[in-house]
Amino acid sequence: MAILVTGGAGYIGSHTCVELLNAGYEVVVLDNLCNSSEKSLERVKQITGKDVTFYKGDILDRDVLKKVFEKEKIQGCIHFAGLKAVGESVAKPWEYYNNNITGTLTLVDEMRKAGCKNIIFSSSATVYGDPAQIPITEECPKGTCTNPYGWSKSMLEQILSDMQKADPEWNVILLRYFNPIGAHKSGLIGENPNGIPNNLMPYITQVAVGKLKELGVFGNDYDTPDGTGVRDYIHVVDLAVGHVKALNKIKENVGLGIYNLGTGTGYSVLDIVKNFEEATGVEIPYVIKDRRPGDIATCYSDAAKAKRELGWEAQFGIREMCADSWNWQKNNPKGYKE
Ligand code: NAD
Ligand code: UFG
Repeated sequence: MAILVTGGAGYIGSHTCVELLNAGYEVVVLDNLCNSSEKSLERVKQITGKDVTFYKGDILDRDVLKKVFEKEKIQGCIHFAGLKAVGESVAKPWEYYNNNITGTLTLVDEMRKAGCKNIIFSSSATVYGDPAQIPITEECPKGTCTNPYGWSKSMLEQILSDMQKADPEWNVILLRYFNPIGAHKSGLIGENPNGIPNNLMPYITQVAVGKLKELGVFGNDYDTPDGTGVRDYIHVVDLAVGHVKALNKIKENVGLGIYNLGTGTGYSVLDIVKNFEEATGVEIPYVIKDRRPGDIATCYSDAAKAKRELGWEAQFGIREMCADSWNWQKNNPKGYKE
């Protein structure tokens, strides 16, 4: 029996493939490579010494989904495939809703036709909007999202929950990721953004490698200890392990499960700059800029539920996250391009 990993060639997907293979699972990846490279899967094989079955295809394409479910013995799906650039989603809402929502509706329809009703969905802390409480527990009400990307996650959580309610044969686990950074220790796989990065850590590593001149810090007048935004950064390998733990939970016929995957600790933008400099010895020049529209001051998790119910807890600290992000970037200054 195998696990279908949609979006498995991407950043979080490739790290999760490694952890699944290490845990003894067979892995089938379906990815259209719109934001990734097949090279990541070659690297996954290099790291684990194990094979991944790869289908290049789209979750919107019923024919390819049918083929995968006919040919492979799929016991469950970890569903990463989706578009994730916040700014782009504001400019292209239809494309985001079509890819993320229609894509997921198509996937789960083909899953149920094939009799496979186990899914782990990549959700995001963005569903909490401007959170009603800090640290954020899973009971915290969902909030108003500030962009179509966030809404697509929030709506998909609702859709998958409603489907599970109507048909209790489904096991649905919604994993709400906080801010994934870092890379596999080998430096062989990591985050590979197209163009100028929107997110903090890839921006910092590209400044460090000399591709970008300086970091712009988006606002230093928030109600936080140093005025810059506070987030819950989590090592991508910890996040990947969280998916393996969630699969164990599915074996208990969980029904619907909702879990935060974070460390429970918040760091400011300037904390990250300082930790990166200390972990790597590379200086990061920065300038203070205006706030970025849609940003909130503080977002970090209460991670107790995942510890209690999944037996999962983040292992890596902020220094390792910074060191591993840098190790990947300096060994692969052009990402997966030679
Ligand atoms: P990523 O872009 O590296 O990976 C997504 C993968 O999905 C890519 O390989 C892409 O080619 C593929 N894909 C997209 N649309 C597809 C489609 N229609 N059919 C087949 N493949 C398709 O992104 P990531 O950072 O690894 O994120 C994985 C998931 O986690 C996404 O759903 C994302 O929204 C979610 N998430 C990410 C973060 C983050 O900060 N990275 C935070 C919260 C949630
Ligand atoms: N920041 C800067 N300069 C930059 C980039 C970011 O100062 O060049 C700041 C932001 O203002 C914020 C912090 O760094 O305070 C983190 O920003 P990111 O863009 O790295 O991450 P966000 O918390 O804004 O959003 C990320 C993902 C979302 C996801 C959310 C919660 O991009 O998709 O985490 O999981 F929804």
